[in-house]
Amino acid sequence: MKVAKTIDEIRRLVADARVGGARLVGLVPTMGALHEGHYSLIDVARGECDFVVVSIFVNPTQFAPNEDYRNYPRPVENDLAGCESHGVDAVFAPSADEMYQAGFAATVKVAGLTESMEGRCRPGHFDGVCTVVAKLFNIVGPNVAYFGAKDYQQSAVIRKMVADLDMPLRIAVCPIVREADGLAMSSRNANLDDAERIQAPVLHESLRLAERLIREGERNAANVIESVQSLLGENAPLGEADYVAIVDPDSLAAVEEIESDVVVALAVKFPSARLIDNMRVDVPKTSR
Ligand code: PAF
Repeated sequence: MKVAKTIDEIRRLVADARVGGARLVGLVPTMGALHEGHYSLIDVARGECDFVVVSIFVNPTQFAPNEDYRNYPRPVENDLAGCESHGVDAVFAPSADEMYQAGFAATVKVAGLTESMEGRCRPGHFDGVCTVVAKLFNIVGPNVAYFGAKDYQQSAVIRKMVADLDMPLRIAVCPIVREADGLAMSSRNANLDDAERIQAPVLHESLRLAERLIREGERNAANVIESVQSLLGENAPLGEADYVAIVDPDSLAAVEEIESDVVVALAVKFPSARLIDNMRVDVPKTSR
């Protein structure tokens, strides 16, 4: 496994791989602190592609000044060992100065899909994500890029960016990987203290409650949201819900009457980490 720290180096590694016969290049963009969720993306990429690149870059432009950029975990040696053991061909781990040269002034912005949920709570976040992901696509030139469904809105925004800007690659979105108690894997879980960690599975319990209510026939989204909020309040008193939303899976528009499949998404801010999770609920045709 090769580790490239500069744009020139990773471009050369990918070009050499293509000359050597690699047809499909896969990219798994990450901010490091790799966990089973990331490794599941890497394993899918390994199964589908001839040459697998993992980028590890804690992107400063997607964090607001009051967010956890400085505290974001950076266990570099572990990450490299994990990549190696999952058969990654090359890791691209640039510095912030390499990615954002002095005078950097471009932004990639996707309107509409970015205006609710994470976009509303974290102004500017998706501009940072789209800009860095567009750069990574231009640098690595992958045929396929792999993202996790935990960041549901992020994957929708990236698909839209790729479609609207005619970027020549496929976006693969892979299922959420969970701990045994249901907590969605996230690099930020490492920052939770013991008491917060005990309460954190309530995000998933809340989604399951929403799913059950909808399956039992509740069609009023506000009622579902209210039940979810009270469960969060009771079972995660250390956390504060940023939002609980029921949205159309494609447009991400808020749904009032649940008449077709929806995504239930939520964000809870614990003192040590802000967690997000979501679940798609298929509404059975017979009850539509
Ligand atoms: O999902 C993430 O880890 C990041 O938002 C991404 C896509 C690597 C961009 O920095």
